[in-house]
Amino acid sequence: MIKLSELYSGKAKTVYRTDDPEKLIMKFRDSLTAFDGKKKSEAPKKGYYNAQIAAKLLSLLEEKGIKTHFDSMISDTEMVVDAVDIIKIEVIVRNIAAGSLVKKYPFKTGQKLDPPILVFDYKSDEHGDPMINDDIAIALGLATKDELLKIRKLALSINSILLDHLADKNLLLPDFKLEFGRRKGKILLADEISCDTCRFWDKKTGESLDKDVFRFDKGDLVSAYREVARRIVPEIFEK
Ligand code: TMP
Ligand code: ASP
Repeated sequence: MIKLSELYSGKAKTVYRTDDPEKLIMKFRDSLTAFDGKKKSEAPKKGYYNAQIAAKLLSLLEEKGIKTHFDSMISDTEMVVDAVDIIKIEVIVRNIAAGSLVKKYPFKTGQKLDPPILVFDYKSDEHGDPMINDDIAIALGLATKDELLKIRKLALSINSILLDHLADKNLLLPDFKLEFGRRKGKILLADEISCDTCRFWDKKTGESLDKDVFRFDKGDLVSAYREVARRIVPEIFEK
């Protein structure tokens, strides 16, 4: 596979065309932002840890029967993915109250949410990623009623698989964000699942091991990401 020109560069990843029109290359970079890009930084090896964590979790989901855009890794930080038409909805699954949920509603940080709460945000930096409901998503033409139902079911299945998998790694999963895409009439899980897009808390200490370390200046981001990688992809430390 040959990497061609850049298609799109986001806040933490760059997507390239390839000589196969059905495939793209997604490169995980060391840059990171928070608060709609207002806070910016670089963290050496962040792209590497996130890429390895995402590859492992997307492969796990594929093994469990969830269709994802993941194809393979072609370098430490570059993932080959299926080209999809991204649905502009950030699907957030919440198992424990944290972050914006606690800021906006009378939940207490750490409060268990059972059954999990699913939230849809409109993926638009210009509009500040506002929360939407099915009616708004349909009226904006972001997805059909049927697609929203499928996305909801997929997000909850993904949540169960991830919770099961992380439990024996002493990681709590308070919440995470997913994105889906369309390909040949089917819905695929797209984007990444990593320390940038999940909250991971150490089960014993409750310590944040994710982008909250950067958002709220809680310590050393790279050590936190390395610790999650150590638990989810221990094999990369054996090389
Ligand atoms: P929130 O509590 O700030 O709304 O975040 C909920 C989850 O979504 C959390 O796991 C982090 C993730 N997230 C993203 O992946 N991208 C974003 O732009 C934001 C705001 C949150
Ligand atoms: N990814 C978003 C940004 O940079 C927000 C966040 O993750 O907190 O702006």
